[in-house]
Amino acid sequence: MQERLQKIISAAGAASRRKAEELIVEGCVTVNGRIVRELGTKADPEKDAIKVSGKLIHLPQSKTYIVLNKPRGFITSMKDPEGRPVVTELLKGVKARVVPVGRLDYDTEGLLIMTNDGDLAHSLMHPSHVISKIYLAKVKGIIEDKAIERLEKGVKLREGVTAPARVKKLKKSVANSWVEITVHEGRYRQVRRMLEEVGYPVIKLIRVTYGSLALGNVPLGKYRHLTSDEVKLLKDESAGISKKVAVRR
Ligand code: URA
Repeated sequence: MQERLQKIISAAGAASRRKAEELIVEGCVTVNGRIVRELGTKADPEKDAIKVSGKLIHLPQSKTYIVLNKPRGFITSMKDPEGRPVVTELLKGVKARVVPVGRLDYDTEGLLIMTNDGDLAHSLMHPSHVISKIYLAKVKGIIEDKAIERLEKGVKLREGVTAPARVKKLKKSVANSWVEITVHEGRYRQVRRMLEEVGYPVIKLIRVTYGSLALGNVPLGKYRHLTSDEVKLLKDESAGISKKVAVRR
């Protein structure tokens, strides 16, 4: 959006509004390489390169934190070379350039955090941070206690044994069952591979929590902004300083 130059310069913290006016008149301000001396001049801080005394200025970016209820059939990526639908297409109305925190498979549904807070995203995904995630999985077959014990001890995958998971049986039909599985790692297709390894291929997988954050009643394919309390809890968790927090489900 076009704004007066002195307003942009002061919003960027480069000078007070009055000082910015002086700098403009003195010829210290350039827009896309051209000196601007007229006080009424407008520019677009998102598109134009504005320099004050030779230094490029940046507006502080406001942070956006979103939780999306990802449907199956979407890629957790900004673009797909194969042209498949990507999660950002579901964020109509979100102006900030948010990126996914970690990934969910094309076929997995549920909670996906998206943010432009690179520090938080990086910290949440760092392998040294143990953030637990809860998934609901519909599996082929009626899951037996023996399989649950294996999942809870750790399952041998090709890259090594998984950390112990917590598993609860939920419901069953004639041919399938649902389990709730809590994992503390973020390996590639982890839940699917763990369940496959113990003999129960996944038919449907939904992530319902990420650390302290719960999906709640966000409809499939829709999103909501996180509350400031939710952001704070996630920051604490990513910094490893949170106590055990009760997850709102
Ligand atoms: N585990 C999986 O197998 N898939 C996901 O998308 C997330 C966790």
